[in-house]
Amino acid sequence: MTDENTQFNSWFEGQNETDELLKDASANQEEQEDELSLRPKKLSEYIGQKALKDELSVYLQAAKMREEALDHVLLFGPPGLGKTTLAMIIANELGVHLKTASGPAIEKGGDLVALLNGLEPGDVLFIDEIHRLPMNVEEMLYSAMEDYYIDIMVGQGPTARAVHFPLPPFTLVGATTRPGMLSKPLRDRFGIINSLAYYEPEDLAEIVSRTAAIFEAPITKEGALAVALRSRGTPRIANRLLKRVRDFAQVAGQSAIEPELVDMALNKLRVDQKGLDETDHKLLLSMIDLYNGGPVGLATIAANIGEEQDTIESMVEPYLLQIGFLKRTPRGRVVTETAYEHLGRPFENKN
Ligand SMILES: Nc1ncnc2c1ncn2[C@@H]1O[C@H](COP(=O)(O)OP(=O)(O)OP(=O)(O)O)[C@@H](O)[C@H]1O
Ligand SMILES: [Mg+2]
Repeated sequence: MTDENTQFNSWFEGQNETDELLKDASANQEEQEDELSLRPKKLSEYIGQKALKDELSVYLQAAKMREEALDHVLLFGPPGLGKTTLAMIIANELGVHLKTASGPAIEKGGDLVALLNGLEPGDVLFIDEIHRLPMNVEEMLYSAMEDYYIDIMVGQGPTARAVHFPLPPFTLVGATTRPGMLSKPLRDRFGIINSLAYYEPEDLAEIVSRTAAIFEAPITKEGALAVALRSRGTPRIANRLLKRVRDFAQVAGQSAIEPELVDMALNKLRVDQKGLDETDHKLLLSMIDLYNGGPVGLATIAANIGEEQDTIESMVEPYLLQIGFLKRTPRGRVVTETAYEHLGRPFENKN
């Protein structure tokens, strides 16, 4: 080890433990454990997102043939669509190590240095919620991504000096639910930028069947499709609903999960035919009842239903926009006629 390395290592000792950075902010404990066992490990096991998979498989093969690090990858899309899963698959397919961190948890330059320091050539560093990296950390990342080095200041006052620290070639995989919040310089440093789309019911049904097989819970094709149709195009939700349906099947003594049981269970859970839950209903109904369907500003909606604006924008609203229940206008959000119909509210009375 060089002198510089030793100095460098001692410098970041006592900074935040890397382990603390290894958390997925979006799922609870039980769900995180399930997700570990449910996550497909290979690209060929990753269901749906065909265009993205085809593209990625070419880049993966090319990088392996050239024995180079894969170009940096940016994945964006609503929560639960499989960004983290894909990052793990990328590392696995390349046969390299994966280090995981979350943007807001990398508070200081030293945290980033700790993450980068352990990388071997070709390794993957996955940063979830990358739009929430502090600015000073983001700036350090620029040279790391572009030319594989970082300059850090060592010491204080008159003895402070910059130390140039070379890094092995590595791949940064960044994930974000809010691509609009990414700065241009950061976005420009990703060579591969891809969005994940909501899943088609058929693909989701396949995911449900796969999960059911892992849980050893028999399900019919129709049963899997019934769960899929209420899962807002989202694998995480599909897996979550399946677990609850499985409980109902067990108690009812049903050998295989059928559509009737799915409907009964999900009605009990107050997940409606379109997969909308109580938060969605609260949002739409408050807009209809208090503001005649809008336009209503995001801040007002948030205050009325007691949710954070960010939660609404990244987790609730995207699906409502996708299925055409909400529209965005310059003056705010508007509830559409389709949503009125679905909720059984007369649209004609609207003035
Ligand atoms: N294409 C897929 N095939 C099979 N299972 C999938 C697929 N995509 C996601 N899943 C399942 O859905 C769960 C959620 O996926 P993942 O955690 O990767 O989502 P995410 O996009 O990272 O979400 P977030 O934005 O909340 O971090 C995983 O446990 C995984 O099992
Ligand atoms: Mg994730």
